[in-house]
Amino acid sequence: MATELKIPRHIAFIMDGNGRWAAARGLARSEGHREGAEALKRVLAACAQKGVQVVSVYAFSCENWSRPQAEIKFLFSLISQFAKKELKKYAEMGYRVTFSGDLTQLPKSTNNAIKKVVDASKNNTGMIVNIALNYGARQEIVRAVNLILQSGIRQVDEQMFEDCLYTAGFPELDLVVRSSGEKRLSNFMLWQCAYSEFIFTDKFWPDFDENTIDEILKEYSSRDRRFGGIK
Ligand code: IPE
Ligand code: IPE
Ligand code: MG
Repeated sequence: MATELKIPRHIAFIMDGNGRWAAARGLARSEGHREGAEALKRVLAACAQKGVQVVSVYAFSCENWSRPQAEIKFLFSLISQFAKKELKKYAEMGYRVTFSGDLTQLPKSTNNAIKKVVDASKNNTGMIVNIALNYGARQEIVRAVNLILQSGIRQVDEQMFEDCLYTAGFPELDLVVRSSGEKRLSNFMLWQCAYSEFIFTDKFWPDFDENTIDEILKEYSSRDRRFGGIK
């Protein structure tokens, strides 16, 4: 008998392999990023259709500043475009768009485009599309500690700590998916993934589509999540 399909409340995707996808086709890395944005649209539509509550995607890490200037520039222009066109549409469709990361370091035009969609969608109750941008998990944790110190509180519990993370109020991160064969977190959601399931696939991010999501949900549904207990 087929196992019942379980839908994760919160899925995070580490969207990796754009460059290698392009290289395999003799294309510039930028073409891989462009196709990566197309894959993101397919993935978000599939997740919304399945009833996922939050989708987080790793778009640019704190460490990605070490890439060539031209690639960084291209990525931010792509993100600005994506915000003005796609995210705006999502906001109109009832999704809530949020960001994790230090947005003060971003190019001004990107920052403006982001602010608009965050604002326009802040009261929406549909799926949350959370984009990790200039994000690092260690930075997020240190930021939370500083927020707590600034507030003068001298003792915290887990709930209070979580309320100082970018993901405050989100449901549990049930599943982390990384594409392109790498099996590491690369400084992503270290607190949130304490009890997540992990799926690593060799598929490059630009090849992700509805079928990939079906396969991932099937795999997730087959996992026995015990949380330290016994059956
Ligand atoms: C992921 O693809 C996108 C970002 C990190 C911005 P990569 O650009 O890391 O692609 P690979 O890993 O070089 O193939
Ligand atoms: C992780 O991918 C960051 C994003 C997907 C945005 P990277 O390609 O930057 O990670 P490493 O260098 O393989 O760890
Ligand atoms: Mg990579």
